[in-house]
Amino acid sequence: MQVLNTRGFLIYKEFLGAEAQGALLEDIRGVVRAAPLMVPVTPRGREMSVRMTSAGRVGWVTDRRGYRYEDRHPTGVDWPAIPERVLEIWRALSGVERLPDSCLINFYGDGARMGMHQDKDEGDFSMPVVSVSLGDAALFRMGSDARGGKTESLWLSSGDVVVMGGAARLHHHGVDRIRFGSSPLLPKGGRINLTLRVVDC
Ligand code: SIN
Ligand code: FE2
Repeated sequence: MQVLNTRGFLIYKEFLGAEAQGALLEDIRGVVRAAPLMVPVTPRGREMSVRMTSAGRVGWVTDRRGYRYEDRHPTGVDWPAIPERVLEIWRALSGVERLPDSCLINFYGDGARMGMHQDKDEGDFSMPVVSVSLGDAALFRMGSDARGGKTESLWLSSGDVVVMGGAARLHHHGVDRIRFGSSPLLPKGGRINLTLRVVDC
């Protein structure tokens, strides 16, 4: 495993081996069966290209009413618990005692992307964000706390984990594109990103 530091983003390349990735994928499939993936809509009414659901005490949602954390999936079911294997990654890399309240699950199909943004709907920015990549490779763009400043990009592969802590906690980031079909993990292609956060609100 190699650890890169790009603009304060710590990137643990190949943190998860093939077997761990497969086991994690099965856990995520279980979550998605209980809390189906949804089409997120921005407050301005635009459909996002990723499909989303969550595990944990609260889940991040967006629709016409805004970005927020909710206690339940829109269908009314409780969010499933965060799988133990996911918590193990947090314990290994977060550097904090507290456990995350939320695990956002983003699915990127062919052509999906994520615009540059900050993760700032949480109450305590001293808590890091831990982000796990599974499946197809993604071009991850990293900036600073300023909008529209200089950025650097790097390909994230299946099994890579990014930790956004310290100054990087509020740095802008996004996914420009994925290399659809580049990983054998998901038989029909695509990418899954897990974003672990302490929400505290
Ligand atoms: C995000 O920050 O919202 C997603 C990052 C990723 O998909 O790697
Ligand atoms: Fe993010």
